[in-house]
Amino acid sequence: MLISLLALFTLAPLALAQNETFLAGFVATLQSAGLTQLISIAGTLNGTANGQALLANISNGSPHLLFAPNDAAWAMAPSNETSDNNTLLDTFSYHIVPGNFSNVDTMYQNVTLGQTLYSDPATVHLEGNRPQVVAWTVRSDGKTHVLNQRNDSTVVNTTAFGNITIYIVDHVLHVPENLAAAATANDALPAFDTVLSSASLAFYNSSTNQTSDVTFFDAFDSGYRGFTLFAPNTAAVNASNSTLQSLVSNRTAINNILYNHLINGTTVYSPLLAGSEKYTSAAGQTLSFSINATGQYVTLGNITATIVQPDILLPNGVIHIIDQVLLDTDNDPSAASSA
Ligand SMILES: *[C@@H]1O[C@H](CO)[C@@H](O)[C@H](O)[C@H]1NC(C)=O
Ligand SMILES: *[C@@H]1O[C@H](CO)[C@@H](O)[C@H](O)[C@H]1NC(C)=O
Ligand SMILES: *[C@@H]1O[C@H](CO)[C@@H](O)[C@H](O)[C@H]1NC(C)=O
Ligand SMILES: *[C@@H]1O[C@H](CO)[C@@H](O)[C@H](O)[C@H]1NC(C)=O
Ligand SMILES: *[C@@H]1O[C@H](CO)[C@@H](O)[C@H](O)[C@H]1NC(C)=O
Ligand SMILES: *[C@@H]1O[C@H](CO)[C@@H](O)[C@H](O)[C@H]1NC(C)=O
Ligand SMILES: *[C@@H]1O[C@H](CO)[C@@H](O)[C@H](O)[C@H]1NC(C)=O
Ligand SMILES: *[C@@H]1O[C@H](CO)[C@@H](O)[C@H](O)[C@H]1NC(C)=O
Ligand SMILES: *[C@@H]1O[C@H](CO)[C@@H](O)[C@H](O)[C@H]1NC(C)=O
Ligand SMILES: *[C@@H]1O[C@H](CO)[C@@H](O)[C@H](O)[C@H]1NC(C)=O
Ligand SMILES: *[C@@H]1O[C@H](CO)[C@@H](O)[C@H](O)[C@H]1NC(C)=O
Ligand SMILES: *[C@@H]1O[C@H](CO)[C@@H](O)[C@H](O)[C@H]1NC(C)=O
Repeated sequence: MLISLLALFTLAPLALAQNETFLAGFVATLQSAGLTQLISIAGTLNGTANGQALLANISNGSPHLLFAPNDAAWAMAPSNETSDNNTLLDTFSYHIVPGNFSNVDTMYQNVTLGQTLYSDPATVHLEGNRPQVVAWTVRSDGKTHVLNQRNDSTVVNTTAFGNITIYIVDHVLHVPENLAAAATANDALPAFDTVLSSASLAFYNSSTNQTSDVTFFDAFDSGYRGFTLFAPNTAAVNASNSTLQSLVSNRTAINNILYNHLINGTTVYSPLLAGSEKYTSAAGQTLSFSINATGQYVTLGNITATIVQPDILLPNGVIHIIDQVLLDTDNDPSAASSA
């Protein structure tokens, strides 16, 4: 009985029928917007079971937002992101966001986040198997930009079919890269990178059952499923240099400082870092947040840092760049473990 129930649930997504009438109208809309490559890719995916499930989801009549790369965008996309059917499915599903986002126009630094249909367990490692999100915002040029992209990716036109809003974009969107790649790509992070690479912590590796010292960098990149890291920019790290240097021989103190920049186990995107929401750092201290016309802030004790770049998305968490080190060497293990 259990086995047949499991089989039923496993097969359930394939049973979802595509609405052929809907998809024909949808494809005609893409056609008149000149999106011939996108139609061809949908056709390729339609030859695979997972691709069919994706098209069934789009055609179910409920509201969706589709980021639709134009033909020039597909021509520029790296071939490793479009060549095999699995990567193509990951890429395509990252462009689809169920939900109604009409009348949602956030101005940077405020950001809109949408949970996409990209949830490949091989590459998305958020807590609770949550699907990956995509982040976008209107910048001062008046255009909608997708965040975290190697190439500035903007919405160049919009159209719609039924409940599907189509944002035509000038680049194929890349799915989030790991911490090492994201940190290397960000000009503000080299000093913090160095701190993460030189500080170490005891880390339990569940595939070998061994506990060993690894760098924070390696721990975040491989072992963590769901985290929020407040990463001080290089100016902030340099401004705290003498204090950090004086503590360098005290591993407990350095680790506590790093743990106070971390919400462990929970990926908290910027829209939730506001108002009365409080989180407990991995060192058991209270992090509180505020937002006003000047910016968004994180407070620990008597230090309030400005979030200078929100929502750097990772396969297993999120980074917000801040302009001060949250210099607090205190640790409250009981508060940390109950968080
Ligand atoms: C399929 O889509 C068409 C056109 O959008 C709609 O009129 C029809 O009700 C849909 N059929 C089903 C079964 O949802
Ligand atoms: C998917 O394939 C089915 C049958 O093979 C076809 O009827 C349908 O038009 C295709 N849909 C798209 C969007 O290519
Ligand atoms: C990708 O899917 C198409 C069906 O749309 C199939 O013809 C092709 O063989 C698949 N490619 C690979 C490498 O599996
Ligand atoms: C669009 O979505 C709304 C809300 O989910 C639904 O009530 C409406 O029937 C949908 N419209 C179409 C054309 O499917
Ligand atoms: C494709 O290659 C580029 C560099 O050539 C790399 O940065 C990217 O992560 C690769 N993408 C995938 C999906 O492997
Ligand atoms: C935007 O789309 C509309 C309708 O499809 C079209 O008339 C217009 O030329 C497009 N604008 C650009 C800049 O591509
Ligand atoms: C790790 O421990 C688990 C449970 O105790 C066990 O099933 C697994 O085989 C161990 N793995 C290794 C590599 O020792
Ligand atoms: C930080 O302090 C160390 C030791 O005092 C010094 O060698 C290093 O140059 C300083 N770095 C910066 C960026 O100020
Ligand atoms: C190291 O730092 C911890 C945490 O701040 C502190 O409790 C401890 O006394 C320090 N040890 C030394 C030798 O200074
Ligand atoms: C974060 O949570 C994981 C999983 O519960 C745990 O293994 C790890 O030790 C925690 N890290 C810190 C710094 O608290
Ligand atoms: C961001 O949102 C906050 C809170 O709603 C608001 O006070 C602020 O003016 C907004 N900033 C921008 C640039 O729209
Ligand atoms: C916004 O909050 C910050 C941090 O509390 C404060 O320094 C700043 O003056 C506030 N700005 C406005 C316009 O209220």
